[in-house]
Amino acid sequence: MKCTFLGHAAVLIEALDYKIIIDPFLTHNPVYKKNDRDIDGITHVLITHAHGDHVGDAIEIAKKNNALIISNAEIATILKSIDRDLNIHAMHIGGRATVDFGTVKMTPALHGSGYVENDMIYDGGTPCGFLLKVADKTIYHAGDTGLTYDMKLLENSLIDLAFLPIGGNYTMDVDDAVIAVDFIKPDKVVPIHYNTFDQIQADPNDFKDKVSQSDVIILNPGEYTEL
Ligand code: NI
Ligand code: MN
Repeated sequence: MKCTFLGHAAVLIEALDYKIIIDPFLTHNPVYKKNDRDIDGITHVLITHAHGDHVGDAIEIAKKNNALIISNAEIATILKSIDRDLNIHAMHIGGRATVDFGTVKMTPALHGSGYVENDMIYDGGTPCGFLLKVADKTIYHAGDTGLTYDMKLLENSLIDLAFLPIGGNYTMDVDDAVIAVDFIKPDKVVPIHYNTFDQIQADPNDFKDKVSQSDVIILNPGEYTEL
């Protein structure tokens, strides 16, 4: 299984015959290294919350590939109002669903989820993270979140790979993410959501130095790790 960091919070998981993209913020992502192969043959588009740096190119990618979008019910409604032909699986916090590639669970995230269009803000429901089981591996993408003790519950899920925000300002910073790793106890952890914009500057090596139990893998945009 190949897990590629596309920059910011965008992650591509390729396993079995599936190609799952999470938070596909690409076109306007200043650190994304464009590679048309990334979005070729996408089967699933997962969206953690309605902020523009997470919804990103979700609609275009889903349409181009006839992919299934998985999001909370409010985002599903918003996206359907934009394009009624989109194929969307709506879920909500704490819910787990069996899908073709395995299972998806929506985990809590401490954040906002307003959807902005033409200077208006629409209710994007509750933000989430995703706990995925794919090909016998368990992957957690935290979405945008502050440190929350709920993360302690994830310890029981025996996570192989976690994607955690470290950039601060809108999410956990390095020190809070270090505590999150202690709660979650993933085998491997990839820091995300840092150094994309001025407000979220962070040093991933500082994070790596401070984490003791898990293997911290620092990926530059476009780089991948294998499970
Ligand atoms: Ni956000
Ligand atoms: Mn964000």
